[in-house]
Amino acid sequence: MLDQIRQKALKQIEAESDLKNLEAIYRQYLGKKGELTLVLRSLKQMSEKQRKQKGKLANQVKKEIKQALKEKQEKGIKQAKVSKEWIDVTAPGVLPPQGHLNPITLVQRQAEEIFQSMGFSILDGPEIETEYYNFDALNIPENHPARDLWDTFWLKNLDLILRTHTSPMQARYMEKNSPPLRIIVPGRCFRHEATDASHNFQFHQIEGLMVGTNISVTNFKGIIEEFLKKFFSPDVEMRLRPGYFPFVEPGFEIDIKRKDRDWLEIMGAGMVHPNVFKSAGYKPGKWQGFAFGVGIDRLAMLKYGINDIRLFYGNDLRFLRQF
Ligand code: DAH
Repeated sequence: MLDQIRQKALKQIEAESDLKNLEAIYRQYLGKKGELTLVLRSLKQMSEKQRKQKGKLANQVKKEIKQALKEKQEKGIKQAKVSKEWIDVTAPGVLPPQGHLNPITLVQRQAEEIFQSMGFSILDGPEIETEYYNFDALNIPENHPARDLWDTFWLKNLDLILRTHTSPMQARYMEKNSPPLRIIVPGRCFRHEATDASHNFQFHQIEGLMVGTNISVTNFKGIIEEFLKKFFSPDVEMRLRPGYFPFVEPGFEIDIKRKDRDWLEIMGAGMVHPNVFKSAGYKPGKWQGFAFGVGIDRLAMLKYGINDIRLFYGNDLRFLRQF
């Protein structure tokens, strides 16, 4: 009888796959009216000898059933945890929704790649500048009328400004490095001016600088033409016009012409002024080179046919999603 109960109970426990039912099994055997409980209760009516013998066995069975229930429960909890935490490492991942790069960033990266392919290094410069690097080191002394070319944001009480162009990095870089050198410096610039479709108080430029013993306007033309052809298309035409920038001599404005379109000014450039070399500590007469500054916003507007610079900064997803 007890053996039967034991076998039945252990089998039942073994076969049970739902943890919630273990409680019922417990009750079935060990509850108030459980099968084993009844046997234990019936011991009272037995002779002492029988009671001793059967009692021992009954308690043994009770222990075994309890133990089996406990083990089953522990195993079940562990399994539930494992199956809950299980992941299929071979399943394809879930692609998170991806954003879009601003066209300014796209164009900056394209330009970086082209200049890199021609041996230029890419540098960053500070957006907050000193008057010295933004002007003096670039041959624009205090009180010189040329300063009026750049409407400047001054940082109150700090003797610092927001850089009006990326040119200060020419001075910063040359101070610390000797020629031969070729660098570009992409970055954000700021000017205190009214905003309209083609002007904004913040915009982006790429400064370029190449210095060596023999760098001439011819080198400049070759490199910029290569850049423009790669950036726009192989049939783009370019021309140099005289232009004035205090940090170059001679200085140029560069225009481009694309198929069926008008000439358009896109950058300033020139041969680095001896005073700029002097400020950097270069030996007079030893080096020559060219510098240029091109607006990234302008490049992006031309490339993508965008007619309002403010669109780049408006964070309007209807605009941004198109790139
Ligand atoms: N820094 C000038 C500007 O923002 C652009 C420029 C012109 C940069 C001539 C140059 C340069 O390096 O040679 O208007």
